[in-house]
Amino acid sequence: MKVAILISGSGSNMVALAQSMTGDHPARPCLVLANDPDASGLAKARAMGIPTAAIDHRPFKGDRAAFETALLEPLLAAKPDFVALAGFMRVLTAGFVRQFEGRMLNIHPSLLPRYKGLNTHARAIAAGDAEAGCTVHEVTAALDDGPILGQARVPILPNDTPDSLAARVLPMEHRLYPLVLRRVATGERGPVSLP
Ligand code: GAR
Repeated sequence: MKVAILISGSGSNMVALAQSMTGDHPARPCLVLANDPDASGLAKARAMGIPTAAIDHRPFKGDRAAFETALLEPLLAAKPDFVALAGFMRVLTAGFVRQFEGRMLNIHPSLLPRYKGLNTHARAIAAGDAEAGCTVHEVTAALDDGPILGQARVPILPNDTPDSLAARVLPMEHRLYPLVLRRVATGERGPVSLP
């Protein structure tokens, strides 16, 4: 099985996924695709020997359909069985999502269904929540929606800032996403929880 990983930035989740796909794992990374040619994760992927491509979204000036048509070219050429969004910060249209129905995963830095969208950690702290975390879910046309495949929880501490909380959640993302990908690749779809 082949997995294409879409990134926008540093790609630490991409690295965790790629490093997990070795040995008896049923999947291998076939492409790391970014919407920013300067995304630092691209160099990390190349260093791991994974093919990379970048389609800069900026020249498309908000024309999502045209951007996605361009994005599909390298993506379909890589013939992925699964697509993993890993810090990919562009909203995808229903038409794009439909092409990978049931085969596209996303990681989101909150305990969905709470805090869809941006600034999740700041919102969890402002709400006085006792815990935060991350969610891996199947991607559907609705933003940060779709069946939940796994969640990891961490406590929110009294003096937490969005940055300190993110630093506690990110290592859990790096554990959760590979765990869920392996389960999906082996046909298990029941949700998992960490720790
Ligand atoms: C991660 O925290 C991921 O959950 C988040 O962006 C970060 C990317 O980090 N994704 C979203 O906010 C998606 N809406 P990374 O590039 O180091 O993996």
